[in-house]
Amino acid sequence: MMHKNNKNNNQIIYFNEDGYQKLYEYLLNKNHRDYGKNLFILVDDLSYKYCFPILISYLNFLDTSHIIKISPGEQEKNLNTCIFIWKNFEKFKANRSSVLINLGGGVITDIGGFSASVFKRGIRFINIPTTLLGMVDASIGNKTGINFGNIKNEIGSFYHPELLIIDPNFLKTLSKYEIISGQAEMIKHGLIFDKSFWIKLTKELDDNIIPTQNLIYESILIKTNIVEKDPTEIGLRKILNFGHTIGHALESLFMKNPNKKYLLHGVAIAMGMIYESWISYKINDLHINDYQEIKYFILNKYSLQEIINQLSNDDINDILLIMEHDKKNENNKFLFSLLKEIGYCSYNCAVPISLIKESFFQVKTNH
Ligand SMILES: NC(=O)c1ccc[n+]([C@@H]2O[C@H](COP(=O)([O-])OP(=O)(O)OC[C@H]3O[C@@H](n4cnc5c(N)ncnc54)[C@H](O)[C@@H]3O)[C@@H](O)[C@H]2O)c1
Ligand SMILES: [Zn+2]
Repeated sequence: MMHKNNKNNNQIIYFNEDGYQKLYEYLLNKNHRDYGKNLFILVDDLSYKYCFPILISYLNFLDTSHIIKISPGEQEKNLNTCIFIWKNFEKFKANRSSVLINLGGGVITDIGGFSASVFKRGIRFINIPTTLLGMVDASIGNKTGINFGNIKNEIGSFYHPELLIIDPNFLKTLSKYEIISGQAEMIKHGLIFDKSFWIKLTKELDDNIIPTQNLIYESILIKTNIVEKDPTEIGLRKILNFGHTIGHALESLFMKNPNKKYLLHGVAIAMGMIYESWISYKINDLHINDYQEIKYFILNKYSLQEIINQLSNDDINDILLIMEHDKKNENNKFLFSLLKEIGYCSYNCAVPISLIKESFFQVKTNH
């Protein structure tokens, strides 16, 4: 496992003009006087269209960098795209002093980070996330990766960006649905680690489609805090999986089924958090009032009642099959991260399949 330096993640995070200034200084210090030559910028079609011009408006010399452009979408997060990136590195003679700037959503920061981490045993990279999910989640925590053999993030590395630049201006061109999807991870951060942040979100998220810079920053701090305590997910970091055990299965179900509307990751996780809160209430001492507060906030925010009511018995069985296929389960039990109270989450909690099944019926019947 490689960590390029010992700095904490929150020591390399800069916002807006500060970020562009730091990037400028960083490249200057690293003797990138011939800036463009040794610099690579990874984008997808949309981040190139909407975000690259903003970056150039701050640092116009980046215009001469080597642009590596891929198509947008999760399906591009694969080995063939890595090969395409590595071929570009070779073609333009990337070496150990080259720097890759990842400008895009989670797909770009994941695949760019991974490609950089193994090229010539590791070249440096910088993350400039351009989606809300990228800013508050994917670009933080040093996990890089690609999908392989139908398994998400099957191949990857722990690798540290040199700088992380957050510019909420990028979010103006993102669809409302994508913004709401990113908000789910912020909500998760409050629920698992910081009750006062949850309270703030319940008051402020409603009115602001693009969350304020302060809310984005607080959310980032929660994730960096958790990651620093357990960088390689031996223990505490598992709490970041709250909502994801059931959420991932829902995501797969909706992706596979042509009769269902495509669910973005965050929306599936929002649903997952409701079911997993009910399970937390049943077996992990979460107070019923807390469960109901969580349930109604998320239900209303994401207008989930209809989707939840429409989940048929067949759907529920499919979800359980997907979960069994996805995860190792011991003695017919799955290991979940479950809330103990709002702001505190336990991990490695064994949950029997029967209880998971029951959660779908209980949430539906308005419990
Ligand atoms: N490494 C981690 O710890 C971690 C954590 C969470 C998620 N992830 C990964 O992140 C990925 C999801 O990230 P995502 O939701 O950002 O997806 P994404 O990168 O696919 O971006 C979503 C869409 O928004 C477009 N886009 C990006 N910036 C834009 C902008 N400013 N304006 C308009 N459109 C823009 C993209 O082209 C894409 O179509 C998944 O692959 C997931 O596995 C990684
Ligand atoms: Zn997630």
